[in-house]
Amino acid sequence: MALRNLRYEGDEILRKKSRKISVVDDKIRTLLNDMVETMYENEGVGLAGPQVGILKRAIVIDVEDGNVYKMINPEIKNQSGEQVGQEGCLSVPETKGIVRRPMNVTVEYTDENGKQVTLDAEGILARCICHEIDHLDGILFIDRVKNK
Ligand code: NI
Repeated sequence: MALRNLRYEGDEILRKKSRKISVVDDKIRTLLNDMVETMYENEGVGLAGPQVGILKRAIVIDVEDGNVYKMINPEIKNQSGEQVGQEGCLSVPETKGIVRRPMNVTVEYTDENGKQVTLDAEGILARCICHEIDHLDGILFIDRVKNK
């Protein structure tokens, strides 16, 4: 595994839409593992492809629920409820903001073995999934902060 360089707000790559991943191969697995390592090194709870300069629909998440999620082509299929809470982002250092998110989401994704997964998430995990998928569409949490 290897650390990847983080991209920061102002870098136009963070504003681009990421492409779907069509084949889950060793290159994608290496990317996901590098993203996990980079996330831990920077004490983040999630990271998306564009944040390491890769415009592919890959995200990693560890919100300390005992799992390390590596999601390929994640899509929110259902959402419900509401939560209002603080977010930050490794690409927007020293900045926090209050963001409204759904309390529950159902996400479908492909895992690192190419298997299709459906996951029901709530609370912080749901928040993190929404935040990371936003990155894949060129959206930063600061775009969603109320009264900014
Ligand atoms: Ni972020």
